[in-house]
Amino acid sequence: MIPVMRPWLGNEEAEAAAEAVASGWIAQGPRVREFEEAFAESIGAPYAVAVSSCTAALHLAMIATGIGPGDEVIVPSLSFIATANAVRYVGAQPVFSDVDLASQNLTPETVEPHLTARTRAVILVDQGGVPADLAAMRALCDPRHITVIEDAACAAGSSYRARPVGSGAELAAFSFHPRKLLTTGEGGMLTTRDGSIAARLRRLREHGMDVSAADRHRSQQPVIEHYIELGFNFRMTDIQAAVGLVQLRKLPQMVARRRAMAVRYQDRLADITGLITARDPEYGTTNYQSFWVLLPQDFPVSRDELLRRLADAGISARRGIMAAHLEPAYASWHHAPLPVTERLTERSIILPLFHDMTDAEQERVVSVLIEAHQRSEPTALIH
Ligand SMILES: Cc1ncc(COP(=O)(O)O)c(C=O)c1O
Repeated sequence: MIPVMRPWLGNEEAEAAAEAVASGWIAQGPRVREFEEAFAESIGAPYAVAVSSCTAALHLAMIATGIGPGDEVIVPSLSFIATANAVRYVGAQPVFSDVDLASQNLTPETVEPHLTARTRAVILVDQGGVPADLAAMRALCDPRHITVIEDAACAAGSSYRARPVGSGAELAAFSFHPRKLLTTGEGGMLTTRDGSIAARLRRLREHGMDVSAADRHRSQQPVIEHYIELGFNFRMTDIQAAVGLVQLRKLPQMVARRRAMAVRYQDRLADITGLITARDPEYGTTNYQSFWVLLPQDFPVSRDELLRRLADAGISARRGIMAAHLEPAYASWHHAPLPVTERLTERSIILPLFHDMTDAEQERVVSVLIEAHQRSEPTALIH
């Protein structure tokens, strides 16, 4: 079976993890600190704080921004459900906004109709790795004292106005889940330009303690820690960070490879009239974390039938990005009409793309789409 994604892991990561184990220190420690410093440098942000997942990062971003009950936070429904859930974790109200069709991202035009006196933040997602227009969103939000938090879960290695995604955000959250390019198994990172926010994030991820467990352990003298505020256990382990350090070095290669393969998909699928594919916006570059295609309205087979045909051909593809407002967990949630979101989630699919995918494998994927376009089975027309 051709998988939709396979992380690019090798001996180097295995050795780095083994070294962490052999060192005797496997919880959050020196390797996490080293990974944070290297990640911050790669993004061009002064501070990076490692956590256990991007979901945890978004949760802490809500707390660090002071968001709570009575506040509204504008989010795209078209995102992994964690984006909206983070708002609910702090008792605030996620408000779903529609997205732009080409980038699948929020824009000032889609967000503005949802602004109210209660709007405290916008979570701007770089969906599937495609950078959102942060400066445009900040031009809308900054004068209104609305914080823009970047959900860059998918976007390590993407660029925005010639700089790494996340570098211009007050707070940006990254994921290292294996569906992303850079993986640590599970894991996440927050980057910020504000040292006091970084210090608070470090405390919040570790039970609200004023001194980290690693620093206490290193001290020659007894250290009595204090618990300054309600915190969490959102720590990353040193084993994960050891893997992350290797993966970070490989990231530019991963991005280059994915971009080359994406161009190949775009070229090979160009004959399907009306098919829209993930691509770079004019102000940045995507890492193609997800290579999605939006089927034209007159495509002869349904999305689900196409997924079945791909599966029959030994290819594991995925439906497009989910829409949170269509899920039972949000069934009682009031929202404005979201026509672009619904079109994207119902009519798009994500094609396999992974670092060591062969040309022949890519060709197999392409041929299923081309065949479905050229001649459809009579049964498929029922859909
Ligand atoms: C846009 C977005 N936000 C948040 C997350 C959550 O990331 P994690 O699995 O690291 O918690 C994901 C994961 O897919 C995502 O795509």
